[in-house]
Amino acid sequence: VNIPKFTQRMPLAPTLAPYSSTGTAEYYAMTMKEADVEIIPGRLTRVRTFNGSFPGPVIRAKSGVRAVVQQTNNLSVATSVHLHGAHVPEDSDGGPMDLIAPGGGTKTYTYPNQQPHANLWFHDHAHHQESENVFLGLSGTYLLTDDVEQGNVLPKGAYDIPIQLRDARFNDQGQLVYAMDDFLNRNVILANGKAWPYFEVARKLYRFRIFNTANMRYFNLSLTGNQPFTLIGTDGGLLPRPQEVTSVMLSPGERVDIMIDFYEYPLGTTLELKNAPDAMPGGPADAITKVLQFRVTGTGKEFGTIPYDLRTLPALPPATVNRSITLSMDENGMASDLGYINGLVYDMNRVDTQIAYGSTEIWTVTNANKIIPHNFHIHLVQFRVLERNGVPVTSGPEVGLKDTVNLNPGETVKIQATFTGYRGTYLYHCHIFDHAAMGMMATMKIV
Ligand code: C2O
Ligand code: CU
Repeated sequence: VNIPKFTQRMPLAPTLAPYSSTGTAEYYAMTMKEADVEIIPGRLTRVRTFNGSFPGPVIRAKSGVRAVVQQTNNLSVATSVHLHGAHVPEDSDGGPMDLIAPGGGTKTYTYPNQQPHANLWFHDHAHHQESENVFLGLSGTYLLTDDVEQGNVLPKGAYDIPIQLRDARFNDQGQLVYAMDDFLNRNVILANGKAWPYFEVARKLYRFRIFNTANMRYFNLSLTGNQPFTLIGTDGGLLPRPQEVTSVMLSPGERVDIMIDFYEYPLGTTLELKNAPDAMPGGPADAITKVLQFRVTGTGKEFGTIPYDLRTLPALPPATVNRSITLSMDENGMASDLGYINGLVYDMNRVDTQIAYGSTEIWTVTNANKIIPHNFHIHLVQFRVLERNGVPVTSGPEVGLKDTVNLNPGETVKIQATFTGYRGTYLYHCHIFDHAAMGMMATMKIV
């Protein structure tokens, strides 16, 4: 299908209100179901959704206030809902075998929100189904806030815009086509569920929380003419200090929080958010370098200022355990290719790493592949990136709290995490969903 660019307005996913709340808990309900939505102008595409919304709704939660989310699965496939980046008990982590039966099964997830503010998202994690389920739409936004975040003067309300970015492949009927490891054919970019939309802004400071919810696509984002913008946050919330940047890279699963000051631009200006992929081998050049167009159409009341300090990160306790993790994958380009962590394909019945409750560990993670990038996500924790290729990390999103970190071919990162709060079995894996499905996933048991 030939899809015109910048003809559809980028919508905002609806905010999901709790159906009931007490001072200490908020209760939500969602239904997973199929829906027909307009992603491409003038066509209806059948998708899998949370609550009929593509992408799924936005939950706005508060640290210290429990969120209880009942999920009903009215799809014809089993699902499991994982809150990515959240510190949650094992039975609410949405593990691969903790399935919600199709055709009306329900499960109630409890998210204690005993963690600092963070830009979280929820997505399907059902064993061998997650890749297709997320591709077909099972992905939503969960913004966790706290007093530290609220204590900063940052753009709010209509000026604080979550954007889920991803790619997609369509057939001639306008239907999504999922195939394993099909990176080259996913050459349509969606922002909040629309192909190459535009977004009208006022001459004001805006905050955009950008989620890479793509299966394999990397986004290396910049503005027209390499105009500067301000990086303020990442997966686990705000950075210590804003950083002026001209581009920012997100591997699948990662988030960035940025501010763009449109006050600089006269009314009528159009500005593109562009993509310059550099990690993954490319698809058709024009299609994937365009993402979203901003149109400066309104004036703002207050223009907003960029704070100097944003937050103090939690202190790094001394680490007592060191581990090495090696990610690798067959590079034959065959459907039978397998993914490995420390030489092993995922086996849910095996405990790969046993961790003492409360301990702080340093993991040295290496991508042993020569041409394929990977990334690395650990459930339960927000970690710190200490070093990349032996060099201490001093700028970019990786100075903040992370739950997913990129590894270009041959790269090594050293990360540090403290495993406390809950005991049980959790996952770590490459967040390229197709690589996880090929076996690049492992278990850790906190005891
Ligand atoms: Cu975002 Cu184990 O996943
Ligand atoms: Cu991978």
